[in-house]
Amino acid sequence: MEIIETVAGIRRALDAWRKTGAVIGFVPTMGALHAGHGSLIETARRETGCVAVSIFVNPIQFNQQEDYIRYPRPLAVDAEFCRARGADIVFAPAVEEMYPSPQRTFVEVAGVSARLCGEYRPGHFRGVATVVSKLFHIVQPHRAYFGEKDAQQLAVIRRMAKDLNVPVEIVAVPTVREESGLALSSRNRLLTPEQRAIAPALYQALRAAAEMVSGGLRDIESIKTLALEPLAWHPEIRVEYFEIVDPDEMQPVEQIAGPVVIAAAVWLGSTRLIDNVQARPA
Ligand code: PAJ
Repeated sequence: MEIIETVAGIRRALDAWRKTGAVIGFVPTMGALHAGHGSLIETARRETGCVAVSIFVNPIQFNQQEDYIRYPRPLAVDAEFCRARGADIVFAPAVEEMYPSPQRTFVEVAGVSARLCGEYRPGHFRGVATVVSKLFHIVQPHRAYFGEKDAQQLAVIRRMAKDLNVPVEIVAVPTVREESGLALSSRNRLLTPEQRAIAPALYQALRAAAEMVSGGLRDIESIKTLALEPLAWHPEIRVEYFEIVDPDEMQPVEQIAGPVVIAAAVWLGSTRLIDNVQARPA
């Protein structure tokens, strides 16, 4: 496995792979890798001939400088993690390599980015769509792998690739969870033991709502109220949003007529957790 830090270097390495006729699979990450990222890498490994993983903590998608600064960066451990899962290339550029001059060009996916996390993290999806566009131009993968854990990010990237005619197939990988149901996240390590014990309540509320949808309940406000009731037992949990949205547009639906995504963000102390589930009416 090669670790490459420059744009010119990864272009060179991938040109050689392309000459062999290999299908290029790409897994963009910000590092601090866990089994959720592992599942993306393993899926890419099964489906493609050359697997490139990027590890880049992207400053322009953080709306709080402090969150950017405290983001963990265990590069040596991450590189070993990728090697053990069969990656061929790790692309780990410095900020100056990705942004040699102030970025003046941004990718904005209107509508899809507007609600949910977009509402509470202004500029976040603009930063994500911009860096993923840059990475797509650098790597030029045939297939790129994203987690369903970040459902709105997945919808934003899909729409960006479609609207900008990027010749890449976006592959969605199911959310990897702990046995408790808690979705794996690099932020989980910031939770206290007490917070960690109650964090699975988020997934339980989402599951409850999904079961109401598949069980035939149609009134959105009642579904939300009933599903959120158990969270009120934990005053430490503050719900930021809990919405039933269209899977492509990521806008709240007025009625449940087809598949939906139920998405939520909660705060546990100073840590923000997001999760979502898919549901369809019976
Ligand atoms: P990061 O948070 O490192 O996540 C990288 C990828 O791993 C994303 O596609 C995310 O959805 C996926 N992932 C995270 N936790 C997961 C889990 N429990 N199960 C399955 N997949 C999971 O998302 C980003 O980085 C950045 O925004 C990025 C796309 C790299 C752009 O900077």
